[in-house]
Amino acid sequence: MFNKKISKMLYGGDYNPEQWPKEIWNEDMRLFELADIDIATVNVFSWALNQPNEDTYHFDWLDQVMDLLHENGIHACLGTSTAAHPAWMAKKYPDVLTVDFEGRKRKFGRRHNSCPNSPTYRKYSQLMAKKLAERYKDHPALLLWHVNNEYGWRCYCDNCEKGFREWLKARYGSLEELNRAWYTSFWGHTFHDWDEIVLPNLLSEHLSLNNTDTTTFQGISLDYARFNSDSILECYKLERDAIKSVIPDAVVTTNFQSNGTYKPLDYFKWAKELDVIALDSYPTNDMPMSHTAMRYDLMRGLKNGDPFMLMESCPSQLNWKPQNPLKKPGITKLWSYQAVSRGADSVMYFQLRRSFGAFEKFHGGLIDHAGHENTRVFRECAELGKELEQLGDTILGARVNAKAAILFDWENWWALEYSSGPSVDLKYLTEIQKYYDAFYHQNIQVDFIGVDSDMNQYDIVVAPVLYMAKEGYEKKLEDFVRKGGTFITTFFSGIVDESDLVTLGGYPGKLRDLLGIWVEEIDSLFPEEKNTMILKDTFKDFKGTYECGILCDLLHPEGAEVIAKYGRKFYQGMPALTRNRYGKGEAWYVASSPDQHFLKDFVRNLTAAKGIQPILQAPDEVEISCREKAGKQFLFIMNHHEDAQKVNLGTAPSKDLLSKENVSGEIEVPSKGVRILEYQITNQPAGAV
Ligand code: GLA
Ligand code: ZN
Repeated sequence: MFNKKISKMLYGGDYNPEQWPKEIWNEDMRLFELADIDIATVNVFSWALNQPNEDTYHFDWLDQVMDLLHENGIHACLGTSTAAHPAWMAKKYPDVLTVDFEGRKRKFGRRHNSCPNSPTYRKYSQLMAKKLAERYKDHPALLLWHVNNEYGWRCYCDNCEKGFREWLKARYGSLEELNRAWYTSFWGHTFHDWDEIVLPNLLSEHLSLNNTDTTTFQGISLDYARFNSDSILECYKLERDAIKSVIPDAVVTTNFQSNGTYKPLDYFKWAKELDVIALDSYPTNDMPMSHTAMRYDLMRGLKNGDPFMLMESCPSQLNWKPQNPLKKPGITKLWSYQAVSRGADSVMYFQLRRSFGAFEKFHGGLIDHAGHENTRVFRECAELGKELEQLGDTILGARVNAKAAILFDWENWWALEYSSGPSVDLKYLTEIQKYYDAFYHQNIQVDFIGVDSDMNQYDIVVAPVLYMAKEGYEKKLEDFVRKGGTFITTFFSGIVDESDLVTLGGYPGKLRDLLGIWVEEIDSLFPEEKNTMILKDTFKDFKGTYECGILCDLLHPEGAEVIAKYGRKFYQGMPALTRNRYGKGEAWYVASSPDQHFLKDFVRNLTAAKGIQPILQAPDEVEISCREKAGKQFLFIMNHHEDAQKVNLGTAPSKDLLSKENVSGEIEVPSKGVRILEYQITNQPAGAV
């Protein structure tokens, strides 16, 4: 992953010495050593400090910080400082300021505040990256580059509008093609000149400030979402290329936000431009652990299973929620290992020293306002530091071996939720999570794949609500199933093409042949309303009646076998679950959004049929995950429960990497405790007992 030899999981986080008097920096180093910190992300928000005016650059402070880090054996994850433009720039070049969804030009303030199509921003951010690269190219502390910070916003200014028109010209070539793709014959929208096209926001196509997804022209909004993600990506690429023009083998990344499911940026597309995926993960105490797990698995999927970096996490409490509870003892460690167990090769915090002014002064840090090491948070972090030191490079680079995959597609997410009808209750992440949970709670590993990913290494591929069937994707799926794969998709799939135009001739459009069904109508249920799915006696332990809701497809089999029928409403008796045998495999269609019991039983049967075993049987709230490397399997047992839990490991011998004991049989894992067990791959517990 890096150009330098890394001998252990990186441990550290954001470090903002520019907010502190210099006298404290040496004390920071002393404390970092106590906690076994070996990486610090610096220079993230220092543009105004580094460049006080258009022609002057000052890096003296950063030179000192970089030297200090090196002297203390700490790697630098070097920020480019471009996530907040300097006030002088906003004053002199207002094009760096964004225009919001309501059409208001913003003033200087906050951060993540630059227009991605501002010529000024692009020029100076690139230049800054280049100057930093020139200055630090040979610095021994430098390990990797952290471009900008949590990219992502939307701008509706004139430069973005111009940029949008250019982007559209490149995509469509002609106005005729654009008019077709956007279906502009509707509501008299035919465009005769590129300059007639305006950005879709509350002043034009959008209907509500409360729900920014409500648009009257899905095609336009969808293209704007693509364009905006691309525009911001372009800013990242400009900085990255500036760095690489000076340091060709530089390792460059940027940190992904919203726990990895940040809607405005197509992270699968972005991932191709990053050398390593870096994630900011801020689970809240009330968030189910499967939600966090899913997002880690998604991050691992962005680069086909490569380990990623946990770039930020919080060592104690957040500040930006309405209430910000402390993390109980053990949680920081438990949650950090959760990331590691699913593919992270670093544990990093925001931030190493809690700031004492402005917005984040009550955001947890390794070093608290007390300023010394005698705090609970510091002790817990230092303990984790010791453990990571002890683990050395054992787990570094280890991969997850999953036989099932879930398809995740940002464009599908955008299009699905821009849709007006059939139901506002249909949310992509919720449906994805439901299927994920069915695997998660049975300790069956699952990967995430994008539409460009290869699926041949999997036995099972699930594509919940594949509303947008992209050009040729049905062929990929058909090929997968023909060769023996099991494919599962759901209601409201195969409906539209990439322009959000309905595939005519009957749903699910291009997937119809593979699924062997025709969907004639789609019923939309009220929030509390349920239908039922009644299973035929096809399976031993997957039968009876389950509940379903949101949407119910009314379908006719065209070769598919009916496995379940609806139990209610006027379409009672019509198919609710079908299986189509296709080549050597099978394609399933789940015609409604089922309850979790259904999904659990369904997934258990599907995986069993493919010989996919749970890693281990474990009580509820005991999370099991597993990485593999060089003939060894590293099993993580993480007890999220309030009480100690027992887990039966079976007879295979293993080594506990933290206690160094040999373990097998029944073990007890304390509440919020973690066990990391090493097995020879030929002697794994695979579904022990
Ligand atoms: C984000 C940012 C950090 C910091 C943290 C606080 O992840 O990248 O700069 O603001 O949130 O949680
Ligand atoms: Zn703009």
